[in-house]
Amino acid sequence: MIIPAVSQIELSPYCYLPEVLDYCHKKNIQSESYAPLVRGQKQDDPKLVALARKYDKSTYQILIRWSLQHGVVTIPKSVNRERIQENFNVLNFTISNEDMILMDTFYDNTRIANDPRGIE
Ligand SMILES: NC(=O)c1ccc[n+]([C@@H]2O[C@H](COP(=O)([O-])OP(=O)(O)OC[C@H]3O[C@@H](n4cnc5c(N)ncnc54)[C@H](OP(=O)(O)O)[C@@H]3O)[C@@H](O)[C@H]2O)c1
Repeated sequence: MIIPAVSQIELSPYCYLPEVLDYCHKKNIQSESYAPLVRGQKQDDPKLVALARKYDKSTYQILIRWSLQHGVVTIPKSVNRERIQENFNVLNFTISNEDMILMDTFYDNTRIANDPRGIE
C-alpha cells in the first residue's frame, strides 16, 4: 500500500474534522486545506468578528491562523494584492489554546465543495 504524503481536504472552523486530522497525523500524512476562508461566507459571523477584534486582526487572518495552529498547510486564495499580503501577515500572533478550543466549536458543516463522505 502506498501511503500518500499529503491529504487535501476542505477545512475551516465551520468544517472542522478532527478525526480526519488525527488519522493523517498518526499515519504521518500532511493535512492540507482548501477553502480555509469559507469563501468569505463567515466574515460577519459575530463569534469570529469578536475574536478578530480581540487579536486586532481581520476575520480572514484569524481563520488562516487557526488552520496553521492545527498543523495544516493552508491555501487561502485571493486575486487582490493587498489581501494576499494581509493573508501572509499571520505569523506575528498566536491564538490562545482557549480560543482555539472555542473556534473548534464553530462547526456547522458549512462547505464550499461537496462532502466527499457522501460519494459512493
Ligand atoms: N482541491 C479541491 O477540491 C479544491 C476545492 C476548492 C478550492 N480549492 C482551492 O483552494 C484554494 C482556496 O479555495 P477557495 O478559493 O474556494 O476559497 P477561500 O480561499 O476560502 O476563499 C477565497 C475567497 O475569499 C476572498 N478573500 C481572500 N482573502 C481575503 C481577505 N483578506 N479579505 C477579504 N476577502 C478575501 C477571495 O476574494 P478575492 O480573490 O476577490 O480577494 C475569494 O473570494 C483555491 O486556490 C482553490 O483552487 C481546491
